[in-house]
Amino acid sequence: MNLTLKIWRQAGATAKGAMHTYEVDEISEDMSFLEMLDVLNEQLNEQGEEPVAFDHDCREGICGSCDLMINGRPHGPEVTTTCQLHMRSFKDGDTIHVEPWRAEGFPVVKDLIVDRSAFDRIIQAGGYISVNTGAAPDAHATPVPREDAMKAFNVATCIGCGACVAACPNGSASLFMGAKITHLGRLPQGQPERDSRVVSMVAQHDAEGFGGCTNIGECTSACPKEIPLDVISQLNKDLRTAIRHGH
Ligand code: SF4
Ligand code: FES
Repeated sequence: MNLTLKIWRQAGATAKGAMHTYEVDEISEDMSFLEMLDVLNEQLNEQGEEPVAFDHDCREGICGSCDLMINGRPHGPEVTTTCQLHMRSFKDGDTIHVEPWRAEGFPVVKDLIVDRSAFDRIIQAGGYISVNTGAAPDAHATPVPREDAMKAFNVATCIGCGACVAACPNGSASLFMGAKITHLGRLPQGQPERDSRVVSMVAQHDAEGFGGCTNIGECTSACPKEIPLDVISQLNKDLRTAIRHGH
């Protein structure tokens, strides 16, 4: 495939950015989207130009760092991460627009890389349990109903990629936060700090500049791990309960 790429270039956090146009040829449909960008960067290196900065790590759909807005959709046209998106989703002659996440909570660092450390600070505010668990207990020492175990496991698949924020017109991180709240709230180990957790995480979320949820639902359709919208209902329910308890 021969493709035209329109890519956001921005030299640094405070520099003015703009879309730049590049051509890449002989792209195999078996390449991943990131491998296609590798081809572009090799080309730019050979021409003595600055390669495009983009974030990635595992390239296996696990780490959540490959955060690209592709043709206006977080992670592109498939329900997957950018590193697991293959070029067979595009066709010869296509023009592909590639931009960084756009949200107040995710400032651009360079080109396509944004700073997602706000998510770390939200987790640090309450997305953990502080009991000393010691050595791994026997699996049956604390019985967990199957339904709770399955729900906790399913929402724990959130990889913190931030696609939910990028998709949301309010720039809200409610789906991410709801996944963490629901994960710990479904397990016995998560109960002692349940009230303080939700209050602290929501306060940090708001302080980072993320917006509120108005039930639009773009987040869940952009989520590569298909985290459902009901985690936000759980988040709101936990918050109301914590306030009723005097937090
Ligand atoms: S909820 Fe989905 S889109 Fe949001 S950070 Fe987690 S995995 Fe990414
Ligand atoms: S590079 Fe790790 S999820 Fe894509």
